[in-house]
Amino acid sequence: MTFPNDIPMHPVRTGAVYFVGAGPGSPDLLTVRAARVLARAGRVVFAGSLVPKEAMVILSPEAKWVDSAGMTREEIVDSLVEGANRGEVVVRLASGDPAIFGAMAEMTTELEKRGIAWEVVPGVSSVFASAAALGRDLTLPEVSQTVILTRTAGRTPMPEGEELESLARHKATLVIFLSIDRIEELVDRLTSVLPENTPAAVVARASWPDEVLVQGDLSTIALMVRAAKIYRQALMIVGRVLDARLRETARSRLYAADFGHGFRDPKEGNPPPVDP
Ligand SMILES: C[S@@+](CC[C@H](N)C(=O)[O-])C[C@H]1O[C@@H](n2cnc3c(N)ncnc32)[C@H](O)[C@@H]1O
Repeated sequence: MTFPNDIPMHPVRTGAVYFVGAGPGSPDLLTVRAARVLARAGRVVFAGSLVPKEAMVILSPEAKWVDSAGMTREEIVDSLVEGANRGEVVVRLASGDPAIFGAMAEMTTELEKRGIAWEVVPGVSSVFASAAALGRDLTLPEVSQTVILTRTAGRTPMPEGEELESLARHKATLVIFLSIDRIEELVDRLTSVLPENTPAAVVARASWPDEVLVQGDLSTIALMVRAAKIYRQALMIVGRVLDARLRETARSRLYAADFGHGFRDPKEGNPPPVDP
């Protein structure tokens, strides 16, 4: 892959570990930096259950590809350290963005103890690939200006105060990861707080060739998800932002004709004294 010479490129260091966001699955949703680091990699340790190696390997055909699906944390860290000590460019390839449910801290702290340099290359999170697949905003003026990214307890417990019911009470846009196998429980808990006609959508394998979109409301979504045989690699978005009627009417102040700002004079009347 070549880029114009005048684009400043971030240096790629040998003997360092890169926590690279692979994006949601489609290789053309990698960032340029991620593609460049992969092209230099000597070793790529990837989460085989979420990152499609077949799609990514073309970017790093010479590298040793290590599937971490069956490995413990210690084994993963050992593999990263081994590569770095050999002077390789080492990639820990995480799905989406590594900062969201990416278990980065438990590896970066171990690397620090062993004196290994590391860096993060951000990626397109599946939350944004899912919103894109739906063609929807996650925020709409006067409907929702807050997005909550969460999950429900599986083997990892939820901290006190982050129960789904208390998050739902905010009436913000909810994005629920890692929980689709418990869809009936999600719906029961959400409908204890929100109306049954609250819009809900599930996106499975966003950006993959076999991507599936399911759209309904809290009264229908569980049956639709079961009918579509979605059990993993999916997230649920819940909230009034998905309401088609509100989409028709929600308008931002920023682009309103009567609203002026530093880059544009108002077309009519005076600018109202509110933030965009
Ligand atoms: C361990 S988390 C990693 C999330 C990732 N770091 C991100 O930013 O998207 C795995 C969960 O992310 C969601 N996920 C990952 N890839 C997805 C995709 N392509 N489509 C829909 N959901 C996805 C699912 O909820 C899955 O259970």
